[in-house]
Amino acid sequence: MSSGARSHTAPPPDQRAPVNLPRLAEMKANGEPIVMVTAYDYPSATVAEAADVDIVLVGDSAANVVLGYPGTEQVTMEEMVMLGKAVRRGLRTPLMVGDMPMGSYESSNELAIQNAQRLVKETGCQVVKLESGGVAVERARAIVRAGIPVMGHLGLTPQTATALGGYKAQGKSAKDAIKLLEDALALQSVGCFAIVFEAVPAAITEAIVAKLEIPTIGIGAGPSTSGQVLVFHDLLGITTGRMAKFVKRYADVHDQMVGAMGQYAAEVRSRHFPEPDHVYSVEPTELDEFRRYLDQESLTSQKAWDWEPLP
Ligand code: KIV
Repeated sequence: MSSGARSHTAPPPDQRAPVNLPRLAEMKANGEPIVMVTAYDYPSATVAEAADVDIVLVGDSAANVVLGYPGTEQVTMEEMVMLGKAVRRGLRTPLMVGDMPMGSYESSNELAIQNAQRLVKETGCQVVKLESGGVAVERARAIVRAGIPVMGHLGLTPQTATALGGYKAQGKSAKDAIKLLEDALALQSVGCFAIVFEAVPAAITEAIVAKLEIPTIGIGAGPSTSGQVLVFHDLLGITTGRMAKFVKRYADVHDQMVGAMGQYAAEVRSRHFPEPDHVYSVEPTELDEFRRYLDQESLTSQKAWDWEPLP
């Protein structure tokens, strides 16, 4: 699964500088690929930290991959805040992005600013992400003006997948590609520091990113973006079932987890677990004293409460 993996020796965490917006701009300028991944809790954040990724997104894909909802439409601000707080505790170096869930920003600039501030204040994320062009451009402008950096997200935007005709590649006609370019330029012009392109033909992405100055991150958008993002559970093979075309599985963690859990269950049932290594010992004198107590005649439960250590 991990064949062909690049060797990247992460410097020790205490020697890594936290990733910030100037660093991302510098990476784009130098042609250094930006590595982004999602995380939704403390353990996934510590994995991302240890793997030396640059950006961690507390994505609303949490709806599907950790909360079991059918789509991202269902996840709430409360749930995103709870997940974001857990991620913050496991991260030191990567830039942390809080995803704004559906319903948290579309209806007004005030609502968008209020919820962006809530994500930053309560979860400790440094920046927020919101989906689509159109009205989201105005919301992005308002949030940026309020002092919170914004990452845009174009192409397949799962919150509005129904309106897009389902979970399928976007920008496949010249007309749709022009709209994508216009939205990307609009997001850049209102101050977005980066844009995610999801499920866009590689050639269209390449033509669009050539017109942009800000870093771009792709997921199913080909190799021309400044960086790539994948969902934690997809790349590790924790998610099961049908995967999007753009997912590469680098491990089969689900199968490993089921295998390990099955072995545990079998060992409990066959009494092979726990083994001597997994049990606590007791001083023999204490054990003897306890046994003498048990050997006393007429021991009652009431006496057990009253019992004093033997002299
Ligand atoms: O929520 C998410 O995981 C995302 C990524 C696919 C970019 O938005």
